[in-house]
Amino acid sequence: MRGNRSGAGGKTGCRHPECAGAGKEYSCRAPGLAQELSARGEFRRVLQVLLNLIGNAIRYSPENSRIEVAIEEGLAGQAHSVHVTDEGPGLTEEEQRKVFERFERLGRSGDGGSGLGLYISHRLAAAMGGELSVSSIKGQGARFTLSLPAFSN
Ligand SMILES: Nc1ncnc2c1ncn2[C@@H]1O[C@H](COP(=O)(O)OP(=O)(O)O)[C@@H](O)[C@H]1O
Ligand SMILES: [Mg+2]
Repeated sequence: MRGNRSGAGGKTGCRHPECAGAGKEYSCRAPGLAQELSARGEFRRVLQVLLNLIGNAIRYSPENSRIEVAIEEGLAGQAHSVHVTDEGPGLTEEEQRKVFERFERLGRSGDGGSGLGLYISHRLAAAMGGELSVSSIKGQGARFTLSLPAFSN
């Protein structure tokens, strides 16, 4: 996991197929590569988790809203985090407690989702010695955070 400590980054149009298909446009503020933070994880599994989080943010957010991917350096250098923040419907406290359970869709149906993405991502994060968590206020967007152990040589 590498990225800009300040969280500043470029603004790009999203090429995700769901955006194109629905005629949606999103702004993604992804971190740059000017500075680096290193964390321990299996590259493809980290990618899988981040794709799931970003895919959810795209799928469950309204048109013309902002999705932000930001990297945060951990306190005392123990773990670093990637935050995926959106301006979608958000989750109640009860929904936040249930959202990592298998096949949990929080009442949605008929859109091709399986309710397994966050369950699998949560387990992958734990398997790598990290954590996947959510914070949200219903109606004010959601923030999913993947934390992984810091890597030091
Ligand atoms: N960023 C988000 N904002 C609001 N709700 C979300 C978000 N991400 C996931 N959810 C809710 O959590 C459920 C489970 O997500 P996930 O495990 O990825 O399965 P799926 O996307 O296939 O439904 C979704 O169906 C949706 O109701
Ligand atoms: Mg999903």
